[in-house]
Amino acid sequence: MSSDDLQRVAAGYDAVYAAVPTSPTLARVWREHALGADFPEGFEHISFATLAELRIIASELRLDTGSMFVDLACGMGGPGLWVARETGAALTGIDVSLVAVAGARERAARLGLANIAQFSGGTFAQTGLSDAAFDGAMSVDALQYAPDKQAAMDEVARIVRPGGRLVFACFEFDAARVAGLPVLGTDPVSDYRPLLERAGFKVSSYSETPGWRARLTSAYQGIADAKTSLTAEMGDAGCSSLLGEVAVTLQVQPYRSRVLVSATRR
Ligand SMILES: C[S@@+](CC[C@H](N)C(=O)[O-])C[C@H]1O[C@@H](n2cnc3c(N)ncnc32)[C@H](O)[C@@H]1O
Repeated sequence: MSSDDLQRVAAGYDAVYAAVPTSPTLARVWREHALGADFPEGFEHISFATLAELRIIASELRLDTGSMFVDLACGMGGPGLWVARETGAALTGIDVSLVAVAGARERAARLGLANIAQFSGGTFAQTGLSDAAFDGAMSVDALQYAPDKQAAMDEVARIVRPGGRLVFACFEFDAARVAGLPVLGTDPVSDYRPLLERAGFKVSSYSETPGWRARLTSAYQGIADAKTSLTAEMGDAGCSSLLGEVAVTLQVQPYRSRVLVSATRR
């Protein structure tokens, strides 16, 4: 993926994040199909993390009040801030979308968590963070977009201290289905374990998340069905990127699995 492609991904997400807060329809569809009724108010996201998954992520990271952890591709900060609140650990979130970073900062202030949370622009391959600075790293439904997934794992290994943890949820690709597609077809990984091992992590758990395909299909179909209201609420720019991803995902079925992974830095 060229730097132009990365800029396009960032611009697409910038437009979506700018429009998300303006759309009650998106909030309703996402809560109904992706978040679930028990997901905590104020920590909403645009991924597929459930409250049960956040609990696993928080527990697997093994953080406490003196710890520091990073949320890679944090979006508007919901999942990382929930983990920070639960554990008392200090959060650094990075994302390629600067609109998301600004939104995450505002949310941290709103939730009274600004004292333990900071956010900055960065990419999976270039976080801009210091060597071995973190006790743990998390990421939710974003690593599949990394244009070079080995470089992403190498970068996490660089910033997490030996003995520190990496816990993430993301999608595995069906490589044949995404061949030639922009972004999704750039570096389609169908199993993250070899990359993790090469980067210097020992994988302790690697499992498919229950019901992921049904939730993804119903959430994306819900968005496609609500196109008229979403366009009215979010505007064309905010909506086109979202509807584009939804259409490609429903049509191509690019993912073979969604996995939840825990690993330890050697
Ligand atoms: C589906 S969203 C998930 C965001 C967040 N983790 C959440 O749960 O709400 C995917 C995120 O990945 C970010 N992203 C995509 N490519 C990236 C890259 N190469 N480096 C860093 N962030 C990236 C996007 O800006 C977006 O915020």
